[in-house]
Amino acid sequence: MLLEAPVYKELFGAVEIYEVQKVIKLDTETEDIHSFTVKNLPRGDIYKTLGEMAIVVPMKNEKLQLVDGVLKAIPHKCPIIIVSSSKREGPNLFKQEVDLVKHFYNLTHSKIIMIHQKDIGLAKAFKEVGYTDILDSSGNIRSGKGEGMLIGILLAKAIGAKYVGFVDADNYIPGAVNEYVKDYAAGFLMSESDYAMVRLSWRHKPKVGKRGLYFRKWGRVSEITNRYMNMLLGEGTNFETNIIVTGNAGEHAMTTKLAEILPFSTGYSIEPFELVYLFERFGRWENVEEYQDIYDQGIEVFQIETLNPHLHEEKGQEHVKDMILMSLATIYHSKLASERLRQRILDDLKMHGILGDDEEPKKPIVMRAIKDIDVEKWIKVLENNSESLLKFEL
Ligand code: GDD
Ligand code: MG
Repeated sequence: MLLEAPVYKELFGAVEIYEVQKVIKLDTETEDIHSFTVKNLPRGDIYKTLGEMAIVVPMKNEKLQLVDGVLKAIPHKCPIIIVSSSKREGPNLFKQEVDLVKHFYNLTHSKIIMIHQKDIGLAKAFKEVGYTDILDSSGNIRSGKGEGMLIGILLAKAIGAKYVGFVDADNYIPGAVNEYVKDYAAGFLMSESDYAMVRLSWRHKPKVGKRGLYFRKWGRVSEITNRYMNMLLGEGTNFETNIIVTGNAGEHAMTTKLAEILPFSTGYSIEPFELVYLFERFGRWENVEEYQDIYDQGIEVFQIETLNPHLHEEKGQEHVKDMILMSLATIYHSKLASERLRQRILDDLKMHGILGDDEEPKKPIVMRAIKDIDVEKWIKVLENNSESLLKFEL
């Protein structure tokens, strides 16, 4: 793959954020490219990295045709981890997904793990290792995409994956999903740190309009989140910036070592919160001893602009408003945010009718980092008590 070599990066303490890099050529072999402005990540290296990367697919009541395309598009070398929160009654969509996955496995013999988010064995496993952050007041696993991802990360750790990547299940273009996963690998190949993250931004997000397909550059949510995320970073460093273009990158990946030490936020606030937390914890040289290795190596955040457009399910206005609110809540409640920034967020949310006049965004629930969970015990309890766990070729 050929990528634009990043010319700029923004440094904030131990966090290094690279400017967005466009894909120039999706697939290259090993010949040398004599250019300093282009990075060559040969196919062989990409495939080697793919073998070490688990792909987590969170899903909730998505069209089976889309799920089928996504599964078929994930490179064969990557173990797939499906965490579904789909309906189990009236109708039982989860059973349909299980049938689809079994059929897919019979055809491909892919490495797959699948589990239902509300599996009582899963809740029991979390309780037994003393991690209740993911449970609601009745002791069940909470709903939410972030919660599904955390389960996926633990399963990835349990199978010894070096990297963990995420792809949504509602993608209409299988070829795009195939590219995303390879883009993740390219990012990790550029990285010099064990603590790295690759976040994708879309070249275009097509919408059907009156005059046919219209290739939008920005979604509303990401525009707003990026603006405030850049302000937060600017306040932290005292230098205004527009480097962040992936505040809401659902499609992203990280080294398992980084995933282990990150606290995760609930639902759709998970992706913006990852950045907010990195800025808060590693933006300053404070309590360096706790994470000496991370401060020594640095945390690298790559942003790659995909070649493929991103076409996924439309989930409606309310969903969009909810995502804006949750994303901005992570910034609003950051200890790095100045009073001025908080006020601007409030004004914006009120102006857009997302928040009432005397309301404040709710502080998102944050789940502790998973590093202290005894994964062997967790998986054992899960295997002994699960009602939905499926494991193939692992
Ligand atoms: N396991 C699980 N549990 N999966 C869920 C849940 C849940 O409670 N809620 C949603 N999902 C799955 C969906 O089925 C889909 O595969 C994926 O999570 C993303 O959810 P969408 O509802 O499609 O979100 P979106 O398309 O509006 O937003 C996506 O893109 C944003 C911008 O890149 C998400 O990935 C966001 O997290 C992201 O910020
Ligand atoms: Mg979607």
